[in-house]
Amino acid sequence: MADDAGDSKDTRFVGPIPDLYQRLLVPMIFRAAADSLAQVVAGLSPHDVLETAAGTGALTRALVKACPDAAVTATDLNQPMLDAAATHTADGATVTFQQADALDLPFGDQTFDVVACQFGVMFFPDRVHGYREAGRVLRPDGSFVFNTWDRIENNEVTHVIQSALVAAAPDEPLLFMSRTPHGYFSPEQIRADLEAAGMPGASITAIDGTSRTSASEAATAFCQGTPLRVAIESHTTLSVAEATAIAEDALLQHFGAGPIDAPIRSFEVVARPTAPQLTDGER
Ligand SMILES: C[S@@+](CC[C@H](N)C(=O)[O-])C[C@H]1O[C@@H](n2cnc3c(N)ncnc32)[C@H](O)[C@@H]1O
Repeated sequence: MADDAGDSKDTRFVGPIPDLYQRLLVPMIFRAAADSLAQVVAGLSPHDVLETAAGTGALTRALVKACPDAAVTATDLNQPMLDAAATHTADGATVTFQQADALDLPFGDQTFDVVACQFGVMFFPDRVHGYREAGRVLRPDGSFVFNTWDRIENNEVTHVIQSALVAAAPDEPLLFMSRTPHGYFSPEQIRADLEAAGMPGASITAIDGTSRTSASEAATAFCQGTPLRVAIESHTTLSVAEATAIAEDALLQHFGAGPIDAPIRSFEVVARPTAPQLTDGER
């Protein structure tokens, strides 16, 4: 059975995606999570903050507000997402935007007090490598703060949409949502990956929230404003318009007409690198 697997496709936040993402998805699910994560960062009183996978700047803007004295460097793999972030961030905010792969950061060792990443680590092709990079650029006593979605079954809107799309084309299932955004949720796995990257003993907190949306808005947001769109565009039977209509219909059937208040669940993670092991010559 063929599916839409194509991991490099899963990170293509390009074309019309940044605009739809910022307009529909940020208010629906990313803004409240960003406010919560920014409070965690603010509690660490950082001077220099690196944000990876910053996207259109949901967390960037929350960091500027929560940490007014910090210098924030916001980075992302996809320049079009950062262009949208710059457009939506107030003039005069102390933010530097710079394109960067979180697995190959163009910054020196021990440069930042906090590395923050909102809903980005699921997209890393090698998470241990990405975590090591975060650890490398952190100062001693620095912290790596990130969040990740829980399994798709605990995030009802995406679960309803994916189930409907799979039922519509079972021979070529569209599995982007469960494979990537909702593909990295085991606290044991997260702790093990961080430990392998030199950050043992991470603290992980489950966060339960609600997303307010409508069937039409959510169908458009997920089918057109995420890399699910890229998978649908190369699907042999479904078009983007058909997939969006299937998703909207399924949401209407599941939640009824009118506003949708659906549960969403994620995990907030705080990890600290252990001090680098010094060799005899360095002691
Ligand atoms: C779900 S979005 C999250 C964006 C933003 N943090 C937010 O909360 O709205 C995932 C982001 O990860 C970025 N991304 C994917 N792989 C990456 C990598 N290897 N390095 C840096 N950014 C990456 C994508 O470009 C996209 O902007």
